[in-house]
Amino acid sequence: RILILDFGSQYTQLIARRVREVGVYSEIRAWDISEEDLDEFNPKGIILAGGPESVAAHESPRAPASIFTRGIPVLGICYGMQTMAEQLGGEVEPSNLREFGYAQVKLQGANALFKDIKDHVEHDGSALLDVWMSHGDKVTKVPEGFSVSAVTQSCPIAGMVNEEKQFYGVQFHPEVTHTLQGKRIFEHFVLQICQCDALWTAANIVEDAIDKVKAQVGTDHVLLGLSGGVDSSVVAALLHRAIGDQLTCVFVDNGLLRKDEGEQVMDMFAKNMGVKVIRANAEELFLGKLKGVSDPEQKRKIIGNTFIDIFDEESAKIDNVKWLAQGTIYPDVIESAAAKTGKAHVIKSHHNVGGLPEDMALSLVEPLRELFKDEVRTIGLELGLPYDMVYRHPFPGPGLGVRILGEVKKDYADILREADAIFIEELHAANWYHKTSQAFAVFLPVKSVGVVGDGRRYEWVIALRAVETVDFMTARWAHLPYELLEKVSGRIINEISGVSRVTYDVSSKPPATIEWE
Ligand code: XMP
Repeated sequence: RILILDFGSQYTQLIARRVREVGVYSEIRAWDISEEDLDEFNPKGIILAGGPESVAAHESPRAPASIFTRGIPVLGICYGMQTMAEQLGGEVEPSNLREFGYAQVKLQGANALFKDIKDHVEHDGSALLDVWMSHGDKVTKVPEGFSVSAVTQSCPIAGMVNEEKQFYGVQFHPEVTHTLQGKRIFEHFVLQICQCDALWTAANIVEDAIDKVKAQVGTDHVLLGLSGGVDSSVVAALLHRAIGDQLTCVFVDNGLLRKDEGEQVMDMFAKNMGVKVIRANAEELFLGKLKGVSDPEQKRKIIGNTFIDIFDEESAKIDNVKWLAQGTIYPDVIESAAAKTGKAHVIKSHHNVGGLPEDMALSLVEPLRELFKDEVRTIGLELGLPYDMVYRHPFPGPGLGVRILGEVKKDYADILREADAIFIEELHAANWYHKTSQAFAVFLPVKSVGVVGDGRRYEWVIALRAVETVDFMTARWAHLPYELLEKVSGRIINEISGVSRVTYDVSSKPPATIEWE
C-alpha cells in the first residue's frame, strides 16, 4: 500500500486515483499523521502531495520527519518536493510569481523514476517531457546527496533525486492528464521503486469487500435503502453476493421517478438477481404532502422526511435487522474528514436524502467506503450490473420534485416523465448521452400559445438541460447539435399532448445551477 500525505492541494485525490489505476491500493491522510498511524498503515512508499501554502511561510505544514528514516521510497510532488528539499537541508525560495500551465522539462542523468520515458528528444539527445506546472516557490538548492533530475527554462530545479535513499521530487504534476507520461511515472514509482504488486483489480476488490462484509455482519440481517442510483445498486449487488438472503432492500417509489424506473429496479434486482426487495408504493402519500407547496427547499424537506418515514415504517416490518448498509464512497469520507479538521479548501455539500431510523439502533455497513466513483462503476460491472445502469447520469434524491417548478402535480409529473424519456432516448440514439454528464427535461408551469389547425391553444412548456462537467461544482451547457435538438423538440410536441413549446437551456454554472430549483 501507498500512503499519500495531503497538504491541501485540489489534485491530491487524483494522485490516489492514479496509484490505484496502476493497481496498488492507496490512501490519503493529512500531513500531520501520527507515528502510530504511520506504523499501523505500514506503507511501502509515501507520496507527498501538493498544497497551496508556501514552504517559506511561518508555520507552513511539514511532513513527519520520521518518513525520511523509515527506509522506504518517498516521492514529493510540487509542495511535497519543496518541503522534502527544505526538511533535508536544501533551500526553497519564495516567489509571488506563479508559473501555471503547460511546460516542457528536460531530463538530466538517469534514474528509476524517469527510466525510458520521453515525449520528445532534444538535439543534444536529452529527453523532454510535456508536463503541467502549477507553482510559485522554487527549490534553489538540493539537499546533500541529491542531484537535479529535470530542468525547465524558468525552473532550474524541476526535479531532484537521491537514488541511494530512493527519494524523488518533481515540481510538475504527474497526476494530471496534461502530463502525458504521468501514468508511467506512477508505475515506475509504485511498481518498480516501491516494489508493490499490482493486486488492486476489480475482481480482487470485490473478493476483498465480500470477505470483509461477511466478517463484519456474520449471520445478522442487513437493511439497504435501494434507490436505483449507481452507489446503492452496487452495494445491493455486492451484499447479495456476500450474504444472499440476509439482505433486504427497501425501494421507495415516491411518484417522482423517471419513466419505468420503478419497474426497472424491481426487474433487475428482484426478478433477475433474486434480491429481496420491498417496494413501497408511496406516490399518493408524497404527492399529498407536496400539495400546495411551491418553495424548492420546502419541497426537498418534505420529500426527504417522507422518505425517512416510509423507510422506517417498511423496515420496522422486517425482523431481526442489526445493520444498515450505505453507499458512502471514498470522496465522501475524505471530504467529511477534511470538513471536521478544517483542512479542506473545497468542500462540497451533500444533499442526499436518507437517515437512520431512530429507534432501530442499527450499525453501519459501508462496503464502498474506500472506493472512488470510477472504481465503484468498475466493480458494478464485475458484479454483473448492466453498463447502462452503472454509467447512468446522476439523479437527485428529490427526483422530478425539483424538476417541476413550483407546485408538484401528478399530471405535470406524467408529462415530464414522457418528455424526459424522449430526450434521453434521442441522446442515446445520437451517441450524445455519454458525452454529457447530466441531461434531463424540466417542466415549466407556464402556458404559451400554440397554433393547431385553425385554433390557438395555450399549453405547457418543457425546457431541456444538458451539461458537461467533471465535478458538478461548475458546468458548461452542452453544445448539442441543432439536428438533435430539432428531433427531440419535434417528438415532444407531437407525442405529448399538453406541450406546445420546447426550449433549450444555454446557461452555465455558475451562476445557473444544474437543476432548475
Ligand atoms: P446543482 O443544481 O446544485 O446540482 O448545480 C449539482 C448536482 O447535485 C444534484 N442535486 C441534488 N442531489 N438532492 C440530491 O441528491 C438534491 O436535493 C439535489 N439538488 C441537486 C444535481 O442533480 C447535480 O448532479
